[in-house]
Amino acid sequence: MPKPYIYVTRPFADSGIKALKAKGYKVEVYDKDEVIPRKLLLQKAKGCDALLPLLTDKIDDEVLAAAGPQLKIVANYAVGFDNVDLKAAKKRGIIVTNTPSEKVNEAVAEHTFALMLALARRITEADAYAKAKKYKGWSPNNFIGTDLYGKTLGIIGAGRIGSAVARRAVNGFGMKLIYTDMRQNVDLERAYKATFMQQERLLQEADFISLHVPLLPSTRHLISTAQFSSMKKTAFLVNTARGPVVDEKALLRALKTKRIAGAGIDVFECEPAIDCDLTDNLELKNFPNVILTPHIASATIEAREAMSMVAAENIMAVLSGKEPLTPAK
Ligand code: DGY
Repeated sequence: MPKPYIYVTRPFADSGIKALKAKGYKVEVYDKDEVIPRKLLLQKAKGCDALLPLLTDKIDDEVLAAAGPQLKIVANYAVGFDNVDLKAAKKRGIIVTNTPSEKVNEAVAEHTFALMLALARRITEADAYAKAKKYKGWSPNNFIGTDLYGKTLGIIGAGRIGSAVARRAVNGFGMKLIYTDMRQNVDLERAYKATFMQQERLLQEADFISLHVPLLPSTRHLISTAQFSSMKKTAFLVNTARGPVVDEKALLRALKTKRIAGAGIDVFECEPAIDCDLTDNLELKNFPNVILTPHIASATIEAREAMSMVAAENIMAVLSGKEPLTPAK
């Protein structure tokens, strides 16, 4: 019997790749650290039993058809799976999995706090100032920021990552916690004295707002003009979820009109572009109170290795006729 063939669309943390090879599978990895060209993806997918793509690969019916009827699993190397057409996969009987892991939760929660702290204490502005040799001596008025301690954090999406953020907020920084989600999270309420409320009220009360929802039709532009209007003028918004959850045009207007105090943005509406093609020359990079990171919230050695293993374990389970560990749903 021929060895199962697995195609991986980009090189990454290789613990999972090693595990797949050790299992005796034929594993081929696209050899460049770039998004695989679509044409090549369609060619390479042909004949594979498992496809291991990234969030930057659009896995639609065309790719699934190109792969052929033997394809059993698309093991997406990401927690999010908005790049995969789940309906098309289901129709073809192909299992789709993602890579949630405690390591990813903790990495994203840490990055969320890196952004919150950097915004509150104006770290990137102060860094640029010091490096430009503008510092001429201590002043009590230099780079006045704001505390996290005693402030209210509003979490939108209280799942695994939102809960890891909540733990840091309450246990580490003495923040007050409010949250909103499709359903109440009783564990979160018990552990961190979190208060559940509707999004509208959360936006009015929070000093920091952190987004932890998946990208779905219902969460696209969840934060738009009306939502910015509800926020405190002193509020900071942090997005480590998915870019289109925030209406970028509305964010730019909110920043320009000082509707909010600042934003920490790890994911972009028109990714990989940092700015959508807007007509009025408003750009995120022009605001000193905006901190941009290029979709790196889960970019730690620990998280990437864990994701690699979860993807591999899903493939090994499905190719051995077992249930996947972390089906995308
Ligand atoms: C994810 O896992 O969905 C992140 O956005 C990338 O690691």
